Amino acid sequence: MLDLFADQLAAADRRLSEDDCLPLSEAMRRIPLEVFGELCLSVPDSLQAIRSRLPTMASDEVQGNWTGNCGQALMNQSVAFVRTMFSMHGGRGGKETHARRILDFGCGWGRLLRLLLKYVPADRLHGVDPWHRSIDLCREHGIPCRLALSDYVPRSLPFEGPFDLVYAFSVFTHLSESTARTALSTIRGSIADDGLLCITIRPVEYWHHHGPNGEADCIARHRDRGFAFLPHANREPVDGEVTYGDTSMTIEHLATLAEGWTIAEVEWNPCDPLQVVVALAPS
Ligand SMILES: C[S@@+](CC[C@H](N)C(=O)[O-])C[C@H]1O[C@@H](n2cnc3c(N)ncnc32)[C@H](O)[C@@H]1O
Repeated sequence: MLDLFADQLAAADRRLSEDDCLPLSEAMRRIPLEVFGELCLSVPDSLQAIRSRLPTMASDEVQGNWTGNCGQALMNQSVAFVRTMFSMHGGRGGKETHARRILDFGCGWGRLLRLLLKYVPADRLHGVDPWHRSIDLCREHGIPCRLALSDYVPRSLPFEGPFDLVYAFSVFTHLSESTARTALSTIRGSIADDGLLCITIRPVEYWHHHGPNGEADCIARHRDRGFAFLPHANREPVDGEVTYGDTSMTIEHLATLAEGWTIAEVEWNPCDPLQVVVALAPS
C-alpha cells in the first residue's frame, strides 16, 4: 500500500526534514489512515524524517498480552475503531479533528494514541493508565503524547478537562461494576459540553470464547442482570475489591451505570466482533 502513496509520502518526509516544528499531523494530511497504520508497523529506510517522528512498535508479545492480537490484524482492528470513533464524533458536529483535545482512558502500550498522531498534534493527545508498565511502555517506544498514571479506582484524573473526546477501548470490558460506575462519573466531570465518550463493551457471546472457567455462571448473570464480571485471580484488591477481570454488559445496563450520560450511538466492526462500540454524550 505504501507504493500507491510513494509521492505523497516522499513529500511529507521532505516537509518534516525541512521543519522540525511541523506537527506530524500537518504533514500527514494527505496520507490515508491505513497507510499511516502501515508506517506505524514499519517505516521504509527512505522515509527517515517520518521514522524519526513515529513511536517504535511494541513487540508482538506486548501487543498480544495487552490486546489479544498483533501485527497487521490488530492494526486493521485499530483503524476500524478510530474511523468509527471519529465518524461518531464528527456526526454529532464535533470540532475539526486537529482541534480536539483527546484522552485515551486505559491507553495500554499506546496502540491507538499512535494512530491519532495522524490527525492530532501530540500535545493535544493524553493517555492515562493505572498500570505503570503501560505508561513505561508508551515512554520506551517514544509516544510523544501527554502521559500519566491514573488510579485503579479513578475518582479523579491526572489531567484537567475539558476533553472533546475521551475513549476507552477494551477497558470497560475488564472493570468491576463499581469501578466502571466511578470511571464513568469521573470522566463525566472532564468532558466538554459537546464532547463524546467512546467505549467498548462485550456482548454475552464473549463468554463462549472465554473458556470453561466461569462461563456458564457469567452467561446466567449477564442474562439475569445485564452485567457479568469475573475477577482475575492474580489481582490484589483495591479498596476491598478486585477491580479488573473480564466483563460483559448490555447497553441497557451500561445506561444505568452512566449517570449524567446519554447513550448516543452504538456501532460494531465485524473485524473485531466482541468489542461493541458505544458513544455516550453528556446529558
Ligand atoms: C485490554 S488493555 C487495552 C489497552 C488499550 N486501551 C488498547 O486498546 O490497546 C486494558 C487496559 O486497561 C488498563 N486498566 C486497568 N484498570 C483500569 C482502570 N481502573 N482504569 C483505566 N484503565 C485501566 C490496563 O492497565 C490496560 O492497559
